[in-house]
Amino acid sequence: MNANGVALIIGAGSGIGLETALLFAERGARAVVFADQNIDAALEASEKSKSIATATDYETVALIVDVRDRASVKAVVDEVKKRFSRIDYAVNSVGIPRQTEADTANVQDSEYDLLQEINAKGVLHCLQEEITAMKDQEPAYAEGRNGRRSIGTGSIVCITSLSAVVSSPNSMSYTASKFAARGIIKTAATENLRSGLRINEVCPGYTDTPLLQNAIKRKPAINDLIQKAMPLRRAAAPEEIANVIHFLAGPGASFVNGQTIILHFAQAALAIYGGKQSYVAITNLRKYENATKKLAKVSSEAERQRQKTYATQTTGVITLFFSFFMSVLLAREGSTYGFLPRLLAPAVTITAVFFAREHIRGFWAGKTSGIKGSLPKMGNYEEAEKSTHELMNVLDLLMFSWIGTLVAAIIIGY
Ligand SMILES: NC(=O)c1ccc[n+]([C@@H]2O[C@H](COP(=O)([O-])OP(=O)(O)OC[C@H]3O[C@@H](n4cnc5c(N)ncnc54)[C@H](O)[C@@H]3O)[C@@H](O)[C@H]2O)c1
Repeated sequence: MNANGVALIIGAGSGIGLETALLFAERGARAVVFADQNIDAALEASEKSKSIATATDYETVALIVDVRDRASVKAVVDEVKKRFSRIDYAVNSVGIPRQTEADTANVQDSEYDLLQEINAKGVLHCLQEEITAMKDQEPAYAEGRNGRRSIGTGSIVCITSLSAVVSSPNSMSYTASKFAARGIIKTAATENLRSGLRINEVCPGYTDTPLLQNAIKRKPAINDLIQKAMPLRRAAAPEEIANVIHFLAGPGASFVNGQTIILHFAQAALAIYGGKQSYVAITNLRKYENATKKLAKVSSEAERQRQKTYATQTTGVITLFFSFFMSVLLAREGSTYGFLPRLLAPAVTITAVFFAREHIRGFWAGKTSGIKGSLPKMGNYEEAEKSTHELMNVLDLLMFSWIGTLVAAIIIGY
């Protein structure tokens, strides 16, 4: 669904903010405001957006801002309102990395204060001015297949970091600032739950922007960390994060509010991947249906094996569907539930995944997984075994991720 209103991107001179602003232009925004401390970069980006914008009456402007200074943020927000009379989407992407590798005992006040000033208080300033400007606007509407619906008075997305959720050694100044930013965003989102103004957060991991490139120059070992820690063994491209931000900001996410897009979407994606493995396994096993039925007539063991094959595959499918349903439900509405349901949802899912895993493993774990060379005419069966083993890996990952969700629900809430 296109986001065709007015977008204000703060931190649009580089990296994630830049890609997000360009994406808004490309996907039909009526106006995109490029705000950044680096006005030259903002001007260049604003100019570039004209060549990719798709709205016929597209307008753009670059404005200088320093998020440390609330008056500077107010001036930008006022200017946008004056020029375009409303702000539909605001994205707050400004952030700076830790300045040293100091451990807790040795972090200097100057570094700590600088990161709090930009990464935490900067987000507060942006939210303060954006909320004031956006919460009493006339609601906007989107046309869907099933008719017209209100998408609220506006939508704000703040970019924090995985370091707003987990900590790592020697990152005190950055982690503390991002945890603080997360608290600020959550509080603002909670205050505005029923106002029609949506406020959400995106927590990127390593993303290939100048911020990361400079960090790698200072500490090349980050490259090894990316290889080991990132699921795809690479940093995200900034446009990959921009796509998530654009979706969250836009009308397609009109029911998403106060969310931290981190774990549940990954869980949903994992369940889809597991579903694909199940599908491959079941499709391949069905090719042996006639042969196994004939065998089952003469051997009770063959019949038992046949039934177990289908029972375990069915368990896998049902559990994946359940996990997918729970992750989507929590991603969309987790923040509106009370503490107990948010605690029970992961606990019930962990139990379901655990039993499914044991059930499937009990039957399939002894099998070869088909990787030791193929038997004549058994290629499809081996393929099914491979997919089932992959399904078991997915269930393992889902199990750990739901344990993570449970811990997160207890310690930090939604
Ligand atoms: N790149 C990553 O690996 C990564 C990972 C996790 C989180 N993040 C977060 O994503 C956000 C965007 O990071 P990025 O990688 O695109 O960084 P970037 O350095 O490419 O862009 C940041 C932009 O913010 C601007 N800026 C800095 N201080 C400012 C200030 N006081 N006022 C106004 N503008 C200011 C800079 O001029 C720059 O254009 C940050 O909040 C960052 O912490 C990045």
